[in-house]
Amino acid sequence: MNFLEEKGIPLEKQIRTWHDIVKRPYNRMETDCYTRTRQILMNGIETEAWSFKHCFVRKSPDSELNKLLVNIRRIEDMQQTTINWLCPFNQSVLDTTLGYEQVAVDLTAWLAQNEPDDYVKETFNFGLLEDFDHLYRYSQFAYLIEETDPNDILQHKTDVLIGRPTQNHHNENSIRIRKPYDKDKTSPITKVNILTLISGEQQTHNFYAEHGFMYGNTDLKRLYAEICDVEEEHVTMYETLIDPNETMLEKWLIHEFTEVCNYYNCYKDETDKKLKLIWEEFMQMEIGHLKYAADTFKEYEKRDPEEIIGTNEVLPCHFESQKEYVTNILENEVDKRLNKNQDYTKIKNLPEDWKSYKVQETVSKDGAPSEQAIRLSVKSIGRDIACADEKLIKKQPELLEKGLEEKSQAPNTVVSDKYKKFEKLPPLDFLK
Ligand SMILES: [Fe+2]
Ligand SMILES: [Fe+2]
Ligand SMILES: [Fe+2]
Ligand SMILES: [Fe+2]
Repeated sequence: MNFLEEKGIPLEKQIRTWHDIVKRPYNRMETDCYTRTRQILMNGIETEAWSFKHCFVRKSPDSELNKLLVNIRRIEDMQQTTINWLCPFNQSVLDTTLGYEQVAVDLTAWLAQNEPDDYVKETFNFGLLEDFDHLYRYSQFAYLIEETDPNDILQHKTDVLIGRPTQNHHNENSIRIRKPYDKDKTSPITKVNILTLISGEQQTHNFYAEHGFMYGNTDLKRLYAEICDVEEEHVTMYETLIDPNETMLEKWLIHEFTEVCNYYNCYKDETDKKLKLIWEEFMQMEIGHLKYAADTFKEYEKRDPEEIIGTNEVLPCHFESQKEYVTNILENEVDKRLNKNQDYTKIKNLPEDWKSYKVQETVSKDGAPSEQAIRLSVKSIGRDIACADEKLIKKQPELLEKGLEEKSQAPNTVVSDKYKKFEKLPPLDFLK
């Protein structure tokens, strides 16, 4: 479908009433987990759409263009309120956190498999194993503090298991910087994929930064601080894939196109009738925004918008269970690390003076909260919380041996011998 040929809703008809802006939330227990992931992602997409236009206007001396941007930006903001507040008040911060990491795992896996650029794909796969481990660490606290079975939220679609250990995600931030794509050669799919993922990761960072303090438990707060910092690294990693030579108008065009494609994908997949209507309406609004961005681009840059966004839709957010794909990456790439040449390497090839060792030694000197999470679980129930196929759970000691750096380990690291002992215990009911 060529969205530039669709009609959309004109901007003057996009202001809504407060009653329409604030809708009834979905039901925490009954909603499909992928309805929740769509709601989480689209909130992030709108936040990015809104904040990008603030950056744009702050740099733009063109008052006519700015009038248009501030009007569209207000609509983005209203859309964001509607979507974010579909989350029910009684879905706890930890419940929502499991939802956020489920987005990260299943979205990144989908994007990696549909990404035509090999380097971008490799970067997606790299980030995937980190968010996968975050889900495992948070699941310990969800059980310990709120007695939540992670599958109340994940609905058996996403595994909970050790990934690349979180204490190894902390890098000297400049080595997170990736090589940018070439704006003139790269497919619109890659541009949309990257912007979609940045929006999700940025939203995740902001959610942890804004909510980590809401528990009266210091270990859990420290875990939020630790993982919030990794999400900051993820935003750095993904946003530096973008060609910095794109003009602001080109970026605006890609932003609106990304919004349209995401709503289109949500609309196609949605099983909740009420949300489907919202995705459809907002897609029509975004087609309206896209028209303004395309017309402005034509007028100012004298170029054809289709050179940038092509003539077909992109599907950047299809959610389905990705267990098989994730297991494959987990078994083969858990020992992957960032190299100084904006490349990737394996633990065994890291130089003695690898820049990130110093950072890891510093931040985990008093113990890593992500290791403390497992220790507390072991203290309470004798083992960790892991939800996956039994055969895969049994591979945890092996995965840990392969994926954990020997150097710069936190003093409270739970080593693989401890994991071997879990095997001898009867599994908790819901871990089967
Ligand atoms: Fe929007
Ligand atoms: Fe994460
Ligand atoms: Fe992340
Ligand atoms: Fe928009």
